[in-house]
This record gives sequence, structure tokens and C-alpha cells, in this order.
Amino acid sequence: MNIILLGPPGAGKGTQAAGLESRCGMLQLSTGDMLRETRKADTELGRQVADVMDSGQLVSDEIVSAMIDAKLADMPAETGAIFDGYPRTEAQAVSLDEILAKHDRELNHVIELEVDVDALVDRITGRFTCANCGEGYHDRYKLPETEGVCDKCGHTEFKRRADDTEETVRKRMEEYRGKTAPILPLYEQRGIVTRVDGMASIDEVSAALDAILA
Ligand code: AP5
Repeated sequence: MNIILLGPPGAGKGTQAAGLESRCGMLQLSTGDMLRETRKADTELGRQVADVMDSGQLVSDEIVSAMIDAKLADMPAETGAIFDGYPRTEAQAVSLDEILAKHDRELNHVIELEVDVDALVDRITGRFTCANCGEGYHDRYKLPETEGVCDKCGHTEFKRRADDTEETVRKRMEEYRGKTAPILPLYEQRGIVTRVDGMASIDEVSAALDAILA
């Protein structure tokens, strides 16, 4: 099973992809996470990627599609992929079809998390993650069970993303509306799009996803 999780910044794609990984044994392929690894490197590419991400714009189609191709090449054929944050443009959607065909995979579901855009700035500016294992939290909606201690690994340091400022979030939403939302009709024509209420609680969204994939 190979699926795309689609939705604007803060819709809950990363949260749900991580949950599906642990419940279903699928693998989350987040181009955002891959690019955050790339930007850590003190290289020309790392600096270019950091500049683009911090401006809220999209990194080039060639770079992200090459990353996805490389990840799929390393994955066991029987492990399903959860595409999180990819594809984001029509060119990436075309590349994904080619990459899936190359790796003998088929796209089974495109799940759109529908959210109220006004709530997203609040979700994103309240987000933080464990500095050690990357487990995601939120200042109000998902606090660690013991204050200051990661539920998953027990680490006590947390971090926030450089692009989670209100100004950058608004630019990221503009990019979503202008470049990513228009790819949905391509998948609608194939009859593989399902919409889920992303404003429900994290557990309710997870249950809705499980029902789709059952
Ligand atoms: P990326 O990392 O993909 O960011 P994004 O798509 O903007 O999405 P987010 O990670 O911000 O949100 P999410 O939907 O995963 O929400 P989350 O689960 O964290 O991309 C970052 C940048 O990289 C882009 O701007 C671009 O520059 C570049 N990039 C990445 N992919 C690219 C591509 N394919 N092409 C070109 N450029 C690319 O949830 C948010 C918060 O809300 C969390 O704190 C969570 O706990 C909370 N939350 C989640 N669900 C709920 C719920 N149901 N109720 C209450 N709170 C919730």
C-alpha cells in the first residue's frame, strides 16, 4: 500500500504519518524532514535549501523528486510508503508516477486532511519536537505526559522549526493554495482521493485513516 497525505502546513500530515508508521509498519517519506537533514550540512546545497525553506517557498522539483527516488530504491518492496509533503506541484506529481512505476509500486490512496486555515497558524506556532528522537508535540494539543520529558525517549531538550514563524507560515499556505491544491483533481480523476476532517482530534483523525486503509 502506498499513500499520499495531502494538506496545508499544520494540517497534521507529519503527526498522522508517524502514527501510521507505528500502527501499520509503513514508512513515512517526508520531503520536509529530508530537506531539514540536507540543510544541516555546511554545503552550498544545504545553504540554498535553508534559504528557500526559511522564505516559505518550495525547493526545486528536481531535488525533492531525486530524494524520493533514492528513498524508494532503499526500501524493501513489501513496505508501504506514506508520502508526507510530496508531491507538492504538478511536476512532482508527474515525477511520482514515473518513480512509482520504476519501483513497481502503485498509488492506492490520496488522503486530504481538510482544515480550517485560521487554526493552522496556532497549530504551527505552538509546535515543538524532541531534539533527540523528533517526536512531535504542541503547546496546547499534545504536551508530553511528564512536563519537559519526551514520552518516547525520555530526552529533556526540545526544539522549534526555523520556518514556524507566522510570516513564513502565511507564505507556505500561499504556496499550498497556488501550487499544491491544484494537483488534487489529477488524483480525483483516478477515484483515489478521500477527504478527512483534519479539525477533529488527533485520535479521531487516526481512526478515520485506519478505516480508509483497512
Ligand atoms: P514540511 O516539513 O513538509 O512542512 P509543511 O507541509 O508545511 O507541513 P508541516 O510539517 O508544517 O505540517 P504537518 O501537516 O506535518 O503538521 P504536523 O503534523 O506537524 O515542509 C517544510 C518546507 O520544506 C516547505 O515550506 C518547503 O520549503 C520545503 N519542502 C518540503 N517538501 C517539499 C516538496 N515536496 N517540494 C518543495 N519543497 C518542499 O502538526 C502541526 C501541529 O499541530 C503539531 O504540533 C501537532 O501536534 C498538532 N496537531 C496535529 N494534528 C492535530 C489535530 N488533529 N488537532 C490538534 N493539533 C494537531
